[in-house]
Amino acid sequence: MTKVAIFASGSGSNFENIVSKVDKGHLNNIEITSLYTDHHDAYCIERAKQLKVMVHINEPKDFENKAEYEQKLIQLLHSEEVEWIILAGYMRLVGPDLLNAYEGKILNIHPSLLPKYKGKDAIGQAFNSGDKETGSTVHYVDSGMDTGEIIEQRKCDIKPDDTKEALEERVKQLEYELYPSVIAKVIK
Ligand code: GRF
Repeated sequence: MTKVAIFASGSGSNFENIVSKVDKGHLNNIEITSLYTDHHDAYCIERAKQLKVMVHINEPKDFENKAEYEQKLIQLLHSEEVEWIILAGYMRLVGPDLLNAYEGKILNIHPSLLPKYKGKDAIGQAFNSGDKETGSTVHYVDSGMDTGEIIEQRKCDIKPDDTKEALEERVKQLEYELYPSVIAKVIK
């Protein structure tokens, strides 16, 4: 059993989806130790409570600098014997301390067909682009913004009569399949 922590900053629907898959025995090689969040009022905290997953809330503003913030996270991660980190809507660049501590063992999911539309509001960027398709990408995390090595992508259409909200929902639905499937392949 490989111990895995999930990092989220917002809604946490991917977090919930992964935990549900683990609970149903669909991801039987991993154990989710805990949720790490950087916002005390993020909705993912409510989901974690309902799912009975331990939550660590650490806000960077309560630390001197990013290095101190990440050292605290590393201390907690090591105390839980976490081997892999799954970012699921964690709205922050991972710094050198955490990257060194978990080299090659941090995954992220980004709602675009990278290298297109890095950064914030990737779905809005795709929606306004005139492209006929978009999708989602799971990649390893490096020091850049959505620049790490791509592992797998899945596509969906952008329909002529789409709204941004409908597109967002379509991308989310494919993420709920894509992320667990990559996790099962990559985390051994
Ligand atoms: C997902 O679309 C993911 O690709 C991106 O942030 C979003 C998180 O959504 N990194 P949720 O919090 O899991 O609902």
